[in-house]
Amino acid sequence: MRILIGSFLALAVLGFSACNKKPVQESPDVYEPSELALLMHAMEAENLRLRDSILAGSEELPFPKAFTHLTEAKPTQEGTINTDFHAHANAYKLAMERLEFGEGPITTRYNVGIQACVNCHNSFCNGPIPRIKKLFISE
Ligand code: HEC
Repeated sequence: MRILIGSFLALAVLGFSACNKKPVQESPDVYEPSELALLMHAMEAENLRLRDSILAGSEELPFPKAFTHLTEAKPTQEGTINTDFHAHANAYKLAMERLEFGEGPITTRYNVGIQACVNCHNSFCNGPIPRIKKLFISE
């Protein structure tokens, strides 16, 4: 029984972490990322650039803007953009506003933004979490 439950959990986790609910028979080379997935890549790239400039001590910070259309982008799976998603998207937006206009150490404000990515991913898409966590700057 234990083993059964264990393998069920493993499967559930695998299904989640793939974060891709398309039919299995679809081969990877015809995989087309959704609008939301593309936006995520842009957000990741922007945060990576920001991270680099914070680490380099730059005053000219490229503040992330890709998030602006987060709730309008088409997701892979219909129904993703629900009220919970809206709440997380708002939290991320707020973190980005505080990053640009807030007070306190820039590193802390930046990390709050990355934490907002992780928080939404905990509810929606576990797969990229280890990758996202690499964006944190140790304080
Ligand atoms: C409001 C919720 C939310 C926030 C905030 C969020 N994500 Fe996502 N992310 C998602 C969802 C949902 C998907 C699945 C997209 C799809 O295919 O529909 C995703 C997908 C991804 C992917 C995989 C894209 C692919 O190729 O399939 C990466 C990488 C990613 N997010 C990184 C990030 C980073 C980095 C941040 C913060 C800068 C972030 N996410 C913030 C919800 C969020």
